[in-house]
Amino acid sequence: MTDKISFQDNRLFIEDIPATDLADKYGTPLYVYSANQIANNFRNLERAFGIIPHAKILYALKANSNPEVLRYISALGGGADTVSAGEIFLALRSGFRPASISLAGVGKTDHDIDFAVGRDIGTIIVESDEELTIVSQRAAALGRTARVSLRINPDVDARTHPHISTGLKENKFGINIDRAAETAKRAVKMKNVELIGIHSHIGSQLTEHAPFVEAAESIRKFVLGLKREGIRIRQIDVGGGIGVRYRNAIRHKLLPVETKEEQCIDLDSLAKAIKDKLSLPGCEILIEPGRYVVAESGVLLTRVLYRKESAERTFVVVDAGMNDMMRHALYSAYHQIVPAELKNSGFSPVDVVGPVCETTDAFAVQRDLPSLKRGNLVAILTVGAYGYSIASNYNSRPKPAEILVEKDYARVVRDRETLEDLI
Ligand SMILES: Cc1ncc(COP(=O)(O)O)c(C=O)c1O
Repeated sequence: MTDKISFQDNRLFIEDIPATDLADKYGTPLYVYSANQIANNFRNLERAFGIIPHAKILYALKANSNPEVLRYISALGGGADTVSAGEIFLALRSGFRPASISLAGVGKTDHDIDFAVGRDIGTIIVESDEELTIVSQRAAALGRTARVSLRINPDVDARTHPHISTGLKENKFGINIDRAAETAKRAVKMKNVELIGIHSHIGSQLTEHAPFVEAAESIRKFVLGLKREGIRIRQIDVGGGIGVRYRNAIRHKLLPVETKEEQCIDLDSLAKAIKDKLSLPGCEILIEPGRYVVAESGVLLTRVLYRKESAERTFVVVDAGMNDMMRHALYSAYHQIVPAELKNSGFSPVDVVGPVCETTDAFAVQRDLPSLKRGNLVAILTVGAYGYSIASNYNSRPKPAEILVEKDYARVVRDRETLEDLI
């Protein structure tokens, strides 16, 4: 629930600032994040997972790696889950301690591994047998010992969109659970690696906790099996993937009620289930949420350029494109869209589309929306995660600015790109 982004007197506010003021001052398209929404969501996780002694939250940078947003999250006390040397670099620059950083990723380059070993980060999450050999060789070359965890693929259906499901055996991620014990036995014999943990991440935008529990059960059996072989594991990382509600993020009498509202994971029940399954002596539990921490904090403000009636449809063409926010084009992701100023206009079905030369460049298809015309400001909601972080310059479009709002104070946390930035 997005409580820091709301309507007051029919005007959309991000914390204490009207969206229209931000758009007038900084232009559109514009990403705006509510700092207090990030803090609230982070604290929800801390509170729920606080029932597990020494549980740690590693924020998954891929969701949103704006350096100022990262600085804000590191100050809240989290660790960092990274997937590249670039993300480790950003995490370190943003105040995360090396020991609180993990490096995952199915295709780490030698540079990624050297960077991680050289900075002595908490753990490198190894995703294949061959990668284990390479990590050991790179660590030896650097005269170091690398702490590693094994990412197991538990073959669990996360029941999410196929493009963001990662824990099935046909997915490229992790080591098949039936083979991972062999990899663990190799790891403990190696000189330059220290096996400390087991990791699993089954997918993103999970809306029920049963798949987590299924994965946790597999991890439990696996870790106990290793124990019988004399291999001690001291860290279990259950990955990220906690979903958020994209539909009806904001409710208002002048907005249509969105159907097919997503179910949401109850954090307390999830934490309890993980505690019950994975509280093993001497083993700390880690979670790696990205989306849950930042998604609800973000809005993309965009202005209507044209309203276009065709024989079949009405198109509302806005100045943000799929290059700025890819989620709909990538996996038909649903985002609520609201006018920044509500009028009692009734609703009619429109396609909200961007200027990019691709038919998939849309934010909503056949969506009931209040009347919108040239110059109107609209907000695409719940874009704090996987929004700017997967933006591109496609069609040679400079990327938008990013603004962080805290109560009545807004600051630019990334400048809008200029044409010169395209060179
Ligand atoms: C290994 C790993 N951890 C954590 C995450 C974060 O997932 P989410 O943003 O759904 O919490 C991802 C996302 O793809 C991931 O691949």
